[in-house]
Amino acid sequence: MEQNGRSSWGSNIGFLLAAIGSAVGLGNIWGFPHKMGKSGGFTFLIVYLFLAVFVGLIVMVSELAIGRKTKLSPIDAYKQVTKKFKWLGWAATIAPFLIMSFYTVLGGYVMQYMALNLAELSFGITAGGMDSFVAILVNPFGAVVFTILFIIICMVIVQGGVSGGIEKFNKIGMPALFVMLLVIIVRSLTLPYASEGLKFMFVPGYSVAKGYISEAPDIISVLGTAGGQMFFSLSLAMGAILTYGSYLSKEENLVKNSVIIVAADTLIALLAGFAVIPAAISYNLQNGVAPGDMMIGGPKLLFVTLQDVFANMGKIGPLFGVIFYALVLIAAISSAISLMETVGAHWIDKDLAKGEKDTRKKIISIVSLLILVEAVVVAWDGLGSNGIHPAALLGIQGSVPDVLADWLDFMDTWSEYLLMPLGAMCMALMIGWESGPDLVLDEVAHGDPSNAFKAFYKFCVKFIVPIVMAFVLAGSLKGACGGSAVMWYIICGVALVFFWVFAAVGNKKEVAE
Ligand code: PHE
Repeated sequence: MEQNGRSSWGSNIGFLLAAIGSAVGLGNIWGFPHKMGKSGGFTFLIVYLFLAVFVGLIVMVSELAIGRKTKLSPIDAYKQVTKKFKWLGWAATIAPFLIMSFYTVLGGYVMQYMALNLAELSFGITAGGMDSFVAILVNPFGAVVFTILFIIICMVIVQGGVSGGIEKFNKIGMPALFVMLLVIIVRSLTLPYASEGLKFMFVPGYSVAKGYISEAPDIISVLGTAGGQMFFSLSLAMGAILTYGSYLSKEENLVKNSVIIVAADTLIALLAGFAVIPAAISYNLQNGVAPGDMMIGGPKLLFVTLQDVFANMGKIGPLFGVIFYALVLIAAISSAISLMETVGAHWIDKDLAKGEKDTRKKIISIVSLLILVEAVVVAWDGLGSNGIHPAALLGIQGSVPDVLADWLDFMDTWSEYLLMPLGAMCMALMIGWESGPDLVLDEVAHGDPSNAFKAFYKFCVKFIVPIVMAFVLAGSLKGACGGSAVMWYIICGVALVFFWVFAAVGNKKEVAE
C-alpha cells in the first residue's frame, strides 16, 4: 500500500503484528528469563510491570505519535518537532545500525543450532551444548557464513516493502511463533522438577534461598536491569517504533495499539520464561549440577544449557530443538527487519522527497552491505574467542570491563546501554519541557478523542520517564563499564539536570514572541 508514494500498512492488524514482531525478539526469549532469574524472580517481574506501564507505554505512544504526525523516519521527524534535540533522530538511526552488528550474528548462531538439531534428527547423533557452542565460537568462517545468510533473509523481506514484505512476514510468522512456543511450554512444564523452575520464577526470595543466585540484588540494580530489558524488549528509543508509526493511518487509536503491543510483548516474555527456565533447571537438577554452577544466564542459557536440555530428551529431543530454535529464529528475523527498515527509511524518504520513487531495493541492499561489514567483525570475534576483541587490539591485558572484552558487548554497550536510555530520557524531556505534551496528545486525539489518558501521560512524560531513565542509564553503565554505583549515579544525575534545564529554558520566550 502507498500514500503519495510513501509506504503504509495494509491494515491495523498487520501493523500490530509487525510491531509485536519487532518487540518480540531475542530480548524476550533469552534476555527476559535469565534476567528475571538473576534479579530475584518475582521482584523483577513486579518492577518490570510497573516500568512497562509508567514508562514503556508512555514512550511507545510518544514514538508512534511523532512518527505518524510527521510521516517521516527518525532523522527528519525529530528535525521537524524539536529545535534543541535534533540529534535524537541520529541517535535513533545509529543505535539500530549498531544493534544489527550483533543481532545478525546471534541470528546466525540460532540458525546453526537449528541446523545442528536437524542433522541430529536425521542422523541420530546428539551434540552436547558446551561442545557445540565452543565449536561455533572458534569457527569464524561458519559464523560469518550464517550471519550473511541471516542478513540476506532480512534484506529480501525488507526489500519486499512495508506491507508487501514486513507485514506479510509477520502475519505468518507471529502466529506460527506463538503455536511453537506453546508446544515447547507443554514439554518444559512436564519435565521432572519443572515446579522448581516455576518457584525460581515466582516465589519471592526463592532463588537466593536455594543458592541459584549468590546474593539478592539491590532494588536499584533491579530497576536498572528491568528498565533496560523493558526498553530493549519493546524496541523503544531505537527509531523502530517511530518508523513503524510513520506508516500508520490517522484513524487508528494509538493508545489502544500501544497497550496491545506492550501487553503482547510482556506476555510472550513470560511465556518464554515458562518455556526456558523450568527446562534449564530440570536438566541441571537431573544431572546433579549444584544450584550455584547452573548456566541460566547470558549466552550460555540459549546456546549451551538449552542444547543440553534437548540432547538429554532422547530421540525426540532434536525435534523439540528444531521447533525451539525455529521459533527463536522467527523472533530474531521479525525484530531485525524492523531495525533494518529504520536505518533504510531515512534514505528512502530522502529519495521520495526528490521525486525518486522505487529506490527501496537499492537502498536496502546498500544498508545490508554496511551491516555486513560491522557484523563480520562481531562474527569473527566469536565473543572474544579469536584474538581480535577490542582489548586485544588496544593492547590492554589483565581484567577488562565487559565493554572491551568482545565486540558484541562493545556494540551492545554503545547502543543498548548508552544511546537507548539517554535517547529515551531526552525524548521525554523534549516532549515534556520543550515542545509540550500536546505535541503527542493532539496526534493521539485523531484516533481517540477521549481525555482519560491525558493527565496520566502528562505526568509520566514530564517526571516519571526522565527520572526512571536516568536510573536505568546509571545501572546499565555500571553493568557495562564497571566502577562504583555512586559515581554513575552522580554522572547520570548531572546529565539529567543538564538536559532538563536545557529543554525547559527559553521556551516561554518563544511562545511570547
Ligand atoms: N525488541 C527486540 C528484542 O526483544 C530487539 C529490538 C530492539 C528490535 C530495538 C528493534 C529495536 O529482541
